[in-house]
Amino acid sequence: MAPVPISPINVGHIDDVQELRKFKPNTIPQRFIRDIQERPTQATALISSSDIPTIDLSKLLKGNRDEILHLISACEEWGFFQVINHGIALNLLENIEEKAMEFFRLPLEEKQKYQMAPGTVQGYGQAFVFSEHQKLDWCNMFALGVIPDSIRNTLLWPKKPTNFSNTVEIYSKEVRKLCQNLLKYIALGLGLKKDLFEEAFGVAVQAIRMNYYPPCSRPDLVLGLSPHSDGSALTVLQQGKGSSVGLQILKDDKWVPVQPIPDAFVINIGDTMEVVTNGRFKSVEHRAVTHKHSDRLSIVTFYAPSYDIELGPMPEFVDKKNPCKYRRYNHGEYSKHYVTNKLQGKRTLEFAKIPTKNSC
Ligand code: OGA
Ligand code: NI
Repeated sequence: MAPVPISPINVGHIDDVQELRKFKPNTIPQRFIRDIQERPTQATALISSSDIPTIDLSKLLKGNRDEILHLISACEEWGFFQVINHGIALNLLENIEEKAMEFFRLPLEEKQKYQMAPGTVQGYGQAFVFSEHQKLDWCNMFALGVIPDSIRNTLLWPKKPTNFSNTVEIYSKEVRKLCQNLLKYIALGLGLKKDLFEEAFGVAVQAIRMNYYPPCSRPDLVLGLSPHSDGSALTVLQQGKGSSVGLQILKDDKWVPVQPIPDAFVINIGDTMEVVTNGRFKSVEHRAVTHKHSDRLSIVTFYAPSYDIELGPMPEFVDKKNPCKYRRYNHGEYSKHYVTNKLQGKRTLEFAKIPTKNSC
């Protein structure tokens, strides 16, 4: 049963990692120190990160068959890939990064005007924290619902830095087109009609989250972001220029670092795509680690079905050999379930799992 959300603790002054870094650079409060089995061990990568597939969007747009099949195998084998030649203006990527950093550099009092309210996930603060005993991530987050208007909390759209909101709007439109294109080529690559997913998702919900990871004097004891899979259909991640490697994905029980390609996006398959493809695509568990001397910024877009949509494995992915693994559910309910539970690997998707062999 989903726990009743307790009011998230107000992650105030003493738990704000940028403030900690500024005033007590060598202190790691107990609430950030992970149990031994959760700590990031060094050099766990057996697979070289260069094996994470790279997809050239310009080739997809030309209908290049090999690239479309490459995209499908990336979704099946990895659940993660980087996209190059995505066509989004580089100065837009620079602008959003600059606005995000300007925001995080504001005084705490200014950022706290946009504090995340208890039980919600938008605004400045740490989402997914429901008890005093839960460990905190070494990260400051700022999240906004962008599309449709009904999920927007306009009070949380910051007045400072100037042009922040406008940049988020323009950026979000471009990233939306990228998601729509990727879903189209995924459908075509699977031999299905091109707007299958788009039609199934309705007016897709889109949210943006900016994650700022300051340096940490003991990166071996903390996590930047707890292991989780994303509740979205697709997630689009932009890493700040010059950011150190921080994102890791779980592949064959090993954490593999994602080496950022300059100006590329990192895309991952979220829980929704795992469900609708009846497990053919995997929503892969990932986490973020921190560094002793360098900070890191990521700008993450979540693209998900409309809340009023009913979802389940699509009939195209279910047959005798592949019986239905997930039940049908309302995406709004799933989304609520996701945001009212702590990030804990792939635990959230248990919500949709059919425990025994069953049919849809
Ligand atoms: C996320 C996420 C990873 C990162 O925000 O869901 O997985 O590197 N972020 O910031
Ligand atoms: Ni994620």
